[in-house]
Amino acid sequence: MFRTIAAAFFLGVIALTGTADAPGNARTEATVESPDGGTKFTVSLHSGEARYGIAYRGAVLINPSRLGFRFGGEPPLVGGFAIADVQNSSRDEVWEPVWGQSSSIRDHCKEMTVTLQETEGERRILQIVARAYNDGVGFRYVLPLQPGLDALDIASEETEFRFSGDHIAWWIPDDYDSYEHLYRETRLSEVTGANTPVTMRTSEGLYLSVHEANLTNYAGMTLVPLKDVPNAFRAELVPWPDGTKVLASTPLSTPWRTVQVAERPGGLVESDLILNLNEPCVLEDTSWVKPMKYVGIWWGMHTGKYSWHEGPTHGATTENAKRHIDFARDHGIGGVLVEGWNTGWNRWGARGAFDYVTPYDDFDLSKVAGYAEESGVALIGHHETGGDAQDYESRVDEALDLYASLGVTAVKTGYAGGIYPRGQHHHGQWMVQHYRTVLEKAAERRIMLDVHEPIKPTGISRTYPNMMTREGVRGMEYNAWSEGNPPEHTTILPFTRMLGGPLDYTPGIFDLMLDDYKPENRVHTTLAKQLALFVVLWSPVQMAADLPENYEDHPAFEFIE
Ligand code: NOJ
Ligand code: CA
Repeated sequence: MFRTIAAAFFLGVIALTGTADAPGNARTEATVESPDGGTKFTVSLHSGEARYGIAYRGAVLINPSRLGFRFGGEPPLVGGFAIADVQNSSRDEVWEPVWGQSSSIRDHCKEMTVTLQETEGERRILQIVARAYNDGVGFRYVLPLQPGLDALDIASEETEFRFSGDHIAWWIPDDYDSYEHLYRETRLSEVTGANTPVTMRTSEGLYLSVHEANLTNYAGMTLVPLKDVPNAFRAELVPWPDGTKVLASTPLSTPWRTVQVAERPGGLVESDLILNLNEPCVLEDTSWVKPMKYVGIWWGMHTGKYSWHEGPTHGATTENAKRHIDFARDHGIGGVLVEGWNTGWNRWGARGAFDYVTPYDDFDLSKVAGYAEESGVALIGHHETGGDAQDYESRVDEALDLYASLGVTAVKTGYAGGIYPRGQHHHGQWMVQHYRTVLEKAAERRIMLDVHEPIKPTGISRTYPNMMTREGVRGMEYNAWSEGNPPEHTTILPFTRMLGGPLDYTPGIFDLMLDDYKPENRVHTTLAKQLALFVVLWSPVQMAADLPENYEDHPAFEFIE
């Protein structure tokens, strides 16, 4: 369970540090520095428009960049501001994650809240809250409850990122429905639009990564280039079907926009900034949250050995599930995933194709769950929605209740397909809330989640540690049915996608040539590399993805054990 083992302390208001160069000596600038003084975040006013900038050890990372909002029904909140107030505080606390790469994490930063107020009209208020860490910055907007700003339809978040040079960038496109892309390595000037994290190297050899933290009840952020400013991007939020970006009401705190910085690439990996910008654990008892390795009835479907649906090659039979459970028990593997156990796979794409509670005739769910329990192996459940999140949400209580009643403590979910309601996107506000609803419902039943086709990780696992792992990556499955993933792919992931959190890449394929099922495909790798992925591609719930028969009696399996 989460515990604060060193007291947080807040220093309250510290002396204001801005310049006083405008008519009437009104303040136009305020800066917060990290505890070691290396990272600086500055808010400044330019003819009443708010900008922010970031510097690291004397080097400019982000030139003054716009801030603010446009709304559907209200005037924009982008200018005509004065700085009404600046509050500073600092924070130094240590907390213990339920699982993770370190047993304790230090949250050490200085915080600044700049209150901007329109000088005319409704005199609306927009606050910028920034936390300066030694290894980067997080900043968010706060819109307090106030006259003139109540129910909001955000048409755009105006945040810009004006980078200081044409850095080398590692990025995937700004697809609103999938992160399953190969990373491209180009100059910033060639980035046509990107999902975050986007990682960069400056000509001075600094490494930075832009992402977001605590994405809650808001749309995912993508970056699109500004037309007239080189190396500059603006936040483009993933829209609702009618083009609205976010429906909200005040008081509103947005997700944190994060810029991590390091002098070597590994510094980004070691940073805890994203987790630190999330709320502490809300679960009273987390004794049931347990990292594990797992095997499963899975790779066989992707290679064509098995089918998900009923028939002569059906993978999820009672007998085959028991065989996998025996294998897991004999080799100290914690869990067994069973996909294709429930009816609906041959109605793929139809509304409500799956009911999540009816097993195929050749799969005895309670018998398999009982056998797993007797064997000391966790049965990992599976809910594939085919993208029909709306139908899943209406059935998820019953579906999770069934698994909970059988002692199933982990479920893999999937959203492979266009989202219902149609026009919604995997990364928009509606789905962000759907994923959260399912996560909370799973937590109520002491169920851990592994989400495929997810929203990107933004550190929510701190608050809900049953959010174990997720896909959101072009994973192993692509090697079974596409031209595959090139060797460099898994060397880029730790410095990009994984900065947000763990990933369910499903490593560990030993039969690299796939001769028996997919002679035209192969995994572009070596056995040694497949083992190395268990070290490099971190996941608290980690699959050993190959078939048990390819592991049995193979000396290299000892490494996975
Ligand atoms: C896509 C997921 O990434 C994969 O793991 C799963 O087997 C299929 N959807 C079917 O649910
Ligand atoms: Ca997938």
